[in-house]
Amino acid sequence: MTKLFYTVLVFVSASVFVAGFSPLLSQTPSPQLVDTHTKAGSTCTSCHPGGTPSNKVGMSVCAECHGNYAKVAIKTLAVAPNPHESHLGEVECTVCHHAHKPSEDGCRSCHDFGYKVP
Ligand code: HEC
Ligand code: HEC
Ligand code: HEC
Ligand code: HEC
Repeated sequence: MTKLFYTVLVFVSASVFVAGFSPLLSQTPSPQLVDTHTKAGSTCTSCHPGGTPSNKVGMSVCAECHGNYAKVAIKTLAVAPNPHESHLGEVECTVCHHAHKPSEDGCRSCHDFGYKVP
């Protein structure tokens, strides 16, 4: 009985693992922010602290390592206008930065500043 229980448990866990991670596995490889992070030593749980990856990665997660907007804005002081200090305010980082697909320019719907978003 106990053995059957563990067999089922292992099977269910494995299915959950595959189901949770398959969207990533099915993507075509291209330079993505996740790769930069993996090279820098981050793991999946660095950005998905709950252990179950989802699309909801709030800026508090990014801020753990990068600091708040004020701190990130200092890094891009030389960029005009500063993408991290604008009338959009403190929007989610994922408005521009994506981890598993090309990032986008969140100002682009209204302006063209020629940003290259890493
Ligand atoms: C730099 C932070 C970061 C790291 C490291 C990271 N992720 Fe993500 N992940 C995100 C963000 C942000 C999203 C939301 C979608 C987006 O903007 O790319 C996301 C979304 C996902 C999703 C939801 C489906 C999708 O792709 O849209 C899965 C699954 C996922 N990540 C799996 C992983 C796995 C597996 C790893 C480890 C190899 C990993 N993530 C590492 C930030 C990260
Ligand atoms: C576990 C720590 C950690 C977390 C969490 C994290 N990062 Fe990073 N990030 C790094 C490190 C380390 C680097 C590489 C060195 C650097 O550029 O600061 C990096 C680099 C970057 C870069 C520059 C990439 C390049 O090609 O120049 C961007 C953009 C970035 N992170 C955005 C994010 C965003 C957005 C999130 C949240 C979804 C996030 N990071 C979460 C540690 C982290
Ligand atoms: C409106 C779009 C936008 C948003 C929102 C945004 N970024 Fe960026 N980010 C950029 C652009 C554009 C660059 C590249 C600037 C340049 O040309 O050097 C950048 C560069 C970076 C870099 C690399 C800086 C360097 O040169 O070392 C980091 C780290 C970063 N962003 C983190 C974040 C974090 C963390 C957040 C959320 C708190 C965030 N960004 C929100 C557009 C954005
Ligand atoms: C929903 C549309 C919209 C978005 C998105 C948007 N802006 Fe604006 N922005 C405006 C409007 C409207 C004005 C005021 C009219 C003008 O001067 O063009 C303005 C004015 C500005 C100005 C001063 C005038 C100029 O063009 O030099 C700057 C700088 C600026 N925005 C930067 C940004 C940055 C950086 C982002 C992304 C982080 C952004 N905006 C996103 C609509 C937008």
